[in-house]
Amino acid sequence: VPQNQPYRTCYHFQPQQNWMNDPNGPMYYKGVYHLFYQYNPDGATFGEKMVWAHSVSYDLINWIHLNHHALQPSHHYDIHGCFSGSTTILHQHGQEQQQPFILYTGFDEKKHQVQNLAMPKNPQDPFLREWTKHPQNPIITAPIGLVEQENFRDPTTAWKGSDGKWRVIVGARDGDIGKAILYHSEDFVNWELNPNNNPFCEIDGIGMCECPDFFPVSIDGTKHGVHDYDYDSSSSVIRHVLKISYQNKQQEYYLIGMYVCDDEEEKFVAENEIRGNSLDLKLDHGEFYASKSFFDHAKKRRVIWGWVKELDTEQDDIHKGWAGLQAIPRQVWIHENGKWLMQWPIEELERLRENQVSIVGHKLVAGSTLQVSGITASQADVEVVFELPDLESAEWLDSKEVCSDKEYASKSSIIGPFGLLALASKDLTEQTAIFFTIYRTHNGFSCLMCTDLTRSSLKQDLHKTTYATIFDIDPSLKTISLRTLIDGSIIESFGEKGRVCITNRVYPLLATGKDAHLFLFNNGKHNVSISELNAWSMKRAEFLQQ
Ligand code: FRU
Repeated sequence: VPQNQPYRTCYHFQPQQNWMNDPNGPMYYKGVYHLFYQYNPDGATFGEKMVWAHSVSYDLINWIHLNHHALQPSHHYDIHGCFSGSTTILHQHGQEQQQPFILYTGFDEKKHQVQNLAMPKNPQDPFLREWTKHPQNPIITAPIGLVEQENFRDPTTAWKGSDGKWRVIVGARDGDIGKAILYHSEDFVNWELNPNNNPFCEIDGIGMCECPDFFPVSIDGTKHGVHDYDYDSSSSVIRHVLKISYQNKQQEYYLIGMYVCDDEEEKFVAENEIRGNSLDLKLDHGEFYASKSFFDHAKKRRVIWGWVKELDTEQDDIHKGWAGLQAIPRQVWIHENGKWLMQWPIEELERLRENQVSIVGHKLVAGSTLQVSGITASQADVEVVFELPDLESAEWLDSKEVCSDKEYASKSSIIGPFGLLALASKDLTEQTAIFFTIYRTHNGFSCLMCTDLTRSSLKQDLHKTTYATIFDIDPSLKTISLRTLIDGSIIESFGEKGRVCITNRVYPLLATGKDAHLFLFNNGKHNVSISELNAWSMKRAEFLQQ
């Protein structure tokens, strides 16, 4: 791995070298957080023999990378790769005896995808370093006629239905139809296709339904998570989220609905649809894929991890010696209106904050920029609340064009664009703009949130585009907030307290290390006030090798 690596991160999870993709089987078990991940031990590109690498942590921020891989190809049922999957903690013989199990996809000798089971070799080892593959593997093979054998993968965390049987969902593909297939089991080893309702969910046009995630949320107005299977699914405050990784779009879409599981039927009735346009519900409107959540018993919250891929070339990755990051783990909950998920970086991250700088009550005059100095702008956490002018003055947005949000990204308007210029060079030749623009629509008011990478680097051969979404806002909205995490080559932004997330990768040539700067800007015709800004330099998280 070459020295002087401005694109490596200081507080985002990444291995020392080589390729990483999906987070696998995150869990909290006996005081330790575990993260497994798709890893190529042989290089900085996707590999022929993908393994489950393994790291452990006490706080989800500082990590110990274990030298021993939890799973690697070894048998006919996984010889071409140990692909993504999940962990489930089984409470056997009452609450005392717990045992985690891994369900993962094996890419087998025929290049078919099958589901396998693994158990800790020594459950007393606090780090659960070694895993044993079950003698009955593969425990699930593709249901012929329903899905393609080479596209049947990524089992979810399992949960128990009201009949006491285990359930698991496996992602699949049949032509261009993405499917989620439901299985039942009495003993976690012998699984049968749910006879009544399969596929559990199917969506046309998405390609493979990769990395499904299915979890309960509570609309009781708290941020509390709901235990994977210890809930009453008929309760009026419980909703379920079915998240899918939409292969053809490479983004994370989700459905919110009711999960019915009783003696008569078992089904998921979604309240929204996935149509493949920019108004769909997405976990993140930037680069964030193959996400996986888990219920954190220690803090009674649901935490979600997602993979953030590189946007430079494969040649660049080989030169750097690594590729792929994990986003900062996010707490996820449902907004009390039941209509969308909220996400926020886990609170533990705030322990890395230092050198706070603040700006209170500053008018950002139309057409101006303001530098935020005093922090390490290449490694920062920024929270800002903007005070909006009277919304009535906003420009009209033609609702027919709402879906073609890209062309709105660079346009100057009346209220906005205003926001941050991150990883900017002193003279602003390099800058990544993260901003809002407010519009009037026939139904009220909308906000466009965008991250514009087009000027993020002088370097060529990068994927430099705009990532945006438009969402309705309340006509009485007085302020709008933005939080942005900046770390070398990653920028994660959370708009409106976590309602909208946009995560991206940028590779500036000038704006690295001490030469990176942070600005506020307002390109709209109206002034916008900074009600409050707080920004911090971020300390380095600890990554040990063991
Ligand atoms: C998603 C994915 C999964 C698969 C894994 C292989 O990024 O394609 O569907 O299990 O990566 O590494």
